[in-house]
Amino acid sequence: MTEASDYRYRIRSAEIMPIYDSRARQTLSVTVCTADASGTGVAPAGASRGHHEAHELRDPDGGLISACAKFRQEIAPRLLGMDCRNQLGIDEALITLDSTDNRSRLGANTLIATSMGAIALAAASAGMPLWQYLAEAHEATEMCMPLPQIQILGGGAHADGRLPLQDFMVVPLGAEDWPTALSWVAEVYHAAGRLMSERGLLRGVADEGGWWPNLESSEAALDLLVLAIETAGRKPLDEIAISLDIAANQFYHDGCYHVDGEALTPHAWVEKLLRWTRRYPIRMVEDPCAEDDPVNYAAFYEGFHPKGLIVGDDLVVSNGARIRRAVKDRQINAALIKPNQVGTLTEAHEALLSCPVPIVSARSGETEDSCIVDLALGWQAPLIKVGSIARGERTAKWNRGLRIHQAHPMPLMRFPHPDNQSKL
Ligand code: PGA
Ligand code: ZN
Repeated sequence: MTEASDYRYRIRSAEIMPIYDSRARQTLSVTVCTADASGTGVAPAGASRGHHEAHELRDPDGGLISACAKFRQEIAPRLLGMDCRNQLGIDEALITLDSTDNRSRLGANTLIATSMGAIALAAASAGMPLWQYLAEAHEATEMCMPLPQIQILGGGAHADGRLPLQDFMVVPLGAEDWPTALSWVAEVYHAAGRLMSERGLLRGVADEGGWWPNLESSEAALDLLVLAIETAGRKPLDEIAISLDIAANQFYHDGCYHVDGEALTPHAWVEKLLRWTRRYPIRMVEDPCAEDDPVNYAAFYEGFHPKGLIVGDDLVVSNGARIRRAVKDRQINAALIKPNQVGTLTEAHEALLSCPVPIVSARSGETEDSCIVDLALGWQAPLIKVGSIARGERTAKWNRGLRIHQAHPMPLMRFPHPDNQSKL
């Protein structure tokens, strides 16, 4: 590498500003520039968080004045002159500057926006879309698009607790490609909306764009979902399977799971959930038990594995060491990878590599930023989760995938069988 070409990649400026997310809350946008290119990263925000997630820095009133000030005083000067292709060096500098275990001094939101801005700049400087820049390790001919899991009904913390379970999703595992997968899911979404509206059960949409239903129980929601899949002309399980994010942290109190008007012992709850997995075409269950109830998390695993994926989110919070431990302890065989749960892309990628089946995921608080699709594709994650197929901050992601597919047609990932994953 000549000195002249190195110069092209040198960071010349780094700026931060608050913008708004899909819940009308401020979030951070960081733009990093070389002499002739720029890259922007935006922090998403969760509403249903694991207790061990890296810390989101906000002022007492929810604002971001102190995060912006710290960026300007400490992070921007540190970045100046660094080579934007040196993601590891940039992320290590951010971690060292922060100097806390949970990123509480500078904030994981500040760090992830910076880390994402840097990689976006590196890709722009190389004249490549981000997914291609990340995928240099793979042969372009052997790449596949990640399989989407898409929310149809929203509940839990995203819909004021109207339904206890958080996400009722579908996985179009029989589709050959991304456009077909989306068209199938759009049909299911419309069918579910029509069925609920006919019965007077529709209350608008929840935080991630899924329908906000006025249903009396989780089983009523599952029945409706199966009917919607059939009404859309698809075969439940073979063509479209159900994926649930239970987000059980939200309704585990005083040693009981409070579901659909009942206070269930952990054993009774796991039995009920396993009954659902036998009765309904369910292939994925996320956070079936609370993060501080690992024994029953493992009991669910024993009943469900290897029929489907037991996905850790709040339990493992995109942390490589936590993922490895939970896999070893037979609590999970898959995990969400949410970059802002750890704070830097390097750590998120390390977590992805520790996981038998990584699912790259957005958060419930999002913007029009669509880099998460590039990450999932560039890292060749088997699955991607970004909420529903309605609301602009969600369609920005699905449409990003459509545009990539239009320019570079690729097949869709096959649904991973937990026992076939080498890292298990
Ligand atoms: P979030 O939750 O609201 O914290 O983004 C989404 C999820 O649990 O997957
Ligand atoms: Zn979750």
